[in-house]
Amino acid sequence: TQREFDTDVLVVGTGPMGATTALALAKYGVRVHAISRWNWLANTPRAHITNQRTVEVLRSLGIEEELKQQATAWDKMGDTLFTTSFAGPEIARLQTWGTGDLRFGDYIEASPCPMLDVPQPVMEPILVNAAARSGAQMSFNTEYLSHEQDEGGVTVRLRNHISGQDYEQRVRFLVGADGARSQVAADIGLPFEGVLARAGTLYVQFKADLSKYVAHRPSILHWIVNPEAGFGEIGMGLLRAVKPWTEWIAGWGFDMSKGDPDTSRENALEKIRSLVGDPGLECEILSISPWYVNQQYALEYSRGRVFCGGDAVHRHPPSSGLGLNTSVQDGFNLAWKLAYVIKGYASLDHLSSYGDERAPVGRQIVERANQSRLDYAPMRTAFYGKPSGFSGTLEHFLEGFFAADEQGVETRRKMAEALELKNYEFNAEGTEMNQRYESDGIIGETEPETWSRDRQLYHQPSSRPGAKIPHAWLVGPDGRRISTLDVIGHGCFTLVTGIAGFAWEQAVASLDLPFLRCVRIGIGRYTDPYFYWARLREIDEGGALLVRPDGVIAWRRKEAVSIQRDAETQLADALDAVLGRA
Ligand code: FDA
Repeated sequence: TQREFDTDVLVVGTGPMGATTALALAKYGVRVHAISRWNWLANTPRAHITNQRTVEVLRSLGIEEELKQQATAWDKMGDTLFTTSFAGPEIARLQTWGTGDLRFGDYIEASPCPMLDVPQPVMEPILVNAAARSGAQMSFNTEYLSHEQDEGGVTVRLRNHISGQDYEQRVRFLVGADGARSQVAADIGLPFEGVLARAGTLYVQFKADLSKYVAHRPSILHWIVNPEAGFGEIGMGLLRAVKPWTEWIAGWGFDMSKGDPDTSRENALEKIRSLVGDPGLECEILSISPWYVNQQYALEYSRGRVFCGGDAVHRHPPSSGLGLNTSVQDGFNLAWKLAYVIKGYASLDHLSSYGDERAPVGRQIVERANQSRLDYAPMRTAFYGKPSGFSGTLEHFLEGFFAADEQGVETRRKMAEALELKNYEFNAEGTEMNQRYESDGIIGETEPETWSRDRQLYHQPSSRPGAKIPHAWLVGPDGRRISTLDVIGHGCFTLVTGIAGFAWEQAVASLDLPFLRCVRIGIGRYTDPYFYWARLREIDEGGALLVRPDGVIAWRRKEAVSIQRDAETQLADALDAVLGRA
């Protein structure tokens, strides 16, 4: 019985992965306890780029509006600037994060949600607050020590740092959302590929009102090409707005072969002044911390009743802004599956689909983030004539870059090309939105998908099993627009069909499952007056899509079915297969 267990799921970690998992489980009505060894949440800005898919996830979990209120708005994310300093001559600008003239339409077509900039110390309290509000137990100052699992559950050993006491909890499932140094992943011996700490970067968080440098060119990310910050794989310094335009991070690469970096305040102030281009700038330094470029991913995400997600299983640099995003999406994939097993809707075996679906994504984003750093080499070559870092004086560099001679022409041609490559980091909507899952939880189709445009840059809507249901604007009961994403989810499977899909509606009613609903788009609550859905659905009006709680299509029947018995048999078979109940 339930009482044998102190809670159903114990989540180690209250970062983006842990807090999302706890929030989703609580929303789905599962008992969950999330712990963190520290007294509170992220205390440095770290992740901030929040992509559309993540905002969709958080919309589904009911916190999109709260997030928007506290985020830096999409239009302020703006152009990424390449300049010699804030005060000095500019080299180039790239319209980024989908805000550019050439890309904005693609982004708003793909999703009802914007991109947002939400620093981690803003994001985490919103997630944790919502999780606790929804019924999750949260314990801070509580450290995971070890666990033992058997067939029926997991016994977890914890330490309360306030009382100093160790205690045990008996749970059905344990989730390791304990970050890049995951003890849980180590304890279950997950296999990893790749390396840790292949390069070093120093980040300094500071307060200074720099509005006068950015008000006319709003952007949260500025790269600084100058001799003070010309070292390393990127070969540029960085100024990133944490709170526009009064709180910032300054960053630059350091040479790991020379040991630990200089973390003195004097050195930090000198660098900040050079990046801003104001030798007399006064600022309040809040923190100075080195971080290391990792390139490592787990090949498997679980052992028995223990599951890992987030940085515990993928470790990579911030380039492309994929860490928090992927962690939130790991949690969203895992939570409904745990809920379904706990409620008896799915078999224990069904949980293997979590790792089967998410491990390829983890690997892909680790490779992408590291590639995004390597992709600065052509830019450095354009700047400096060689792929290594800055050498010589700034005057000499500027003279060369803006020269009227043939070499100047060639430099600028190369720069234009190098800038184009950065779309794979800064306008990579495909990387963020085109995930396709393959697992026992998906009834896949044999014919391979053809990509009409570059898969990394452009989103491709699809109703193929393994893809997320495409976003289309429908009209809801109150006459307002509502997204297809809003009519599915809420912990349920949704069978999506059209006006002609009457047999499917009858089949769902007759199966009478607590987790299955039917939506006939076009009639009743949701209509398709734009015929937008009709263009995107890729199935006959009387066909059907079986959409999981996380919005992913598990199965589709393209051709119309008009006989209830046929619909019922097909649907029951599909559900048994995707939930491992056969
Ligand atoms: P995370 O590390 O956030 O959380 C781990 C949790 O586990 C914490 O609550 C910790 O207290 C807890 N814990 C650990 N061990 C424990 C134990 N033994 N017992 C109890 N609790 C324990 N990502 C992105 O998407 N966009 C971006 O722009 C950036 N930018 C960025 C910049 C910089 C400088 C860094 C360092 C990182 C980023 N990231 C990013 C990455 C992002 O910060 C990272 O991917 C997420 O924080 C990972 O979330 P997790 O929840 O997996 O781990």
